[in-house]
Amino acid sequence: MRQVPGTPRVFENLKDWFQHRHERRGSLGFVPTMGALHEGHLELVRRARAENAETIVSIFVNPTQFDDPNDLNKYPRTFERDLELLRGEGVDYVLYPKASEMYADQYRFKITENQLSRELCGAHRPGHFDGVLTVVMKLLQIAGADRAYFGEKDFQQYTLVKDMAAAFFLRTQIVGCPTVREEDGLAMSSRNTRLSEGQRQKAAAFPRILSEARGVDEARAQLRAEGFEVDYVEQMMGRRFGAVRLGEVRLIDNIEI
Ligand code: PAJ
Repeated sequence: MRQVPGTPRVFENLKDWFQHRHERRGSLGFVPTMGALHEGHLELVRRARAENAETIVSIFVNPTQFDDPNDLNKYPRTFERDLELLRGEGVDYVLYPKASEMYADQYRFKITENQLSRELCGAHRPGHFDGVLTVVMKLLQIAGADRAYFGEKDFQQYTLVKDMAAAFFLRTQIVGCPTVREEDGLAMSSRNTRLSEGQRQKAAAFPRILSEARGVDEARAQLRAEGFEVDYVEQMMGRRFGAVRLGEVRLIDNIEI
């Protein structure tokens, strides 16, 4: 029987977690995040909790995956609130490491992928997926989990992580989870909080056009007509992918076709 959920145990030092990891028993589910948690993250947490004896969530705003320093500085940081939400979900452990410890090597070593990471978001955000794959490799090694959960909202990221885990024979199983959306269809994202009220209303047209347009050209044209700046709309892997900007805020989404 599970205990009544208490506050998750927070590990800020890797050494403390490694010691605990060595002593703990039972299957472990892992959800890596950058915090500013919302229902999309919490769905991953619920799935992890349902499928494992214990759950660990990491909160780390990873500097190496931000190609734009402004985006990194403005990334929402809401640790106390996040902890409260994770407590409500009965999460056992929160890993909250420091950049100095995550990158004690000064980012001398990195994971680079040479195909899919060059497409879509990779073509528009130089170095982004090197940063993502490197930090996910580190986090997977640190957590030592049986399963790790990733959202299909970032389908390219999920696919790259899954392929990396296979390529390096990682022992953690990578599990993909469906995109969680707001009532008007906008995919939940930590960046949505940075939209003005007007932008937020307009944003709902993005998933609608992405799924209803007959082709990628039509989708691009309709998005531009609605006032979005279009980074890309492209189809691959049986999905249609899009990235747009509203002012300073970049939104991505993808749907099955
Ligand atoms: P972050 O954007 O915080 O997302 C953490 C996880 O939550 C990712 O797997 C992401 O796909 C998932 N997620 C976010 N919004 C979602 C939604 N609306 N529905 C379903 N899942 C959603 O992605 C990252 O952080 C980072 O790149 C990370 C993997 C932690 C590496 O730094």
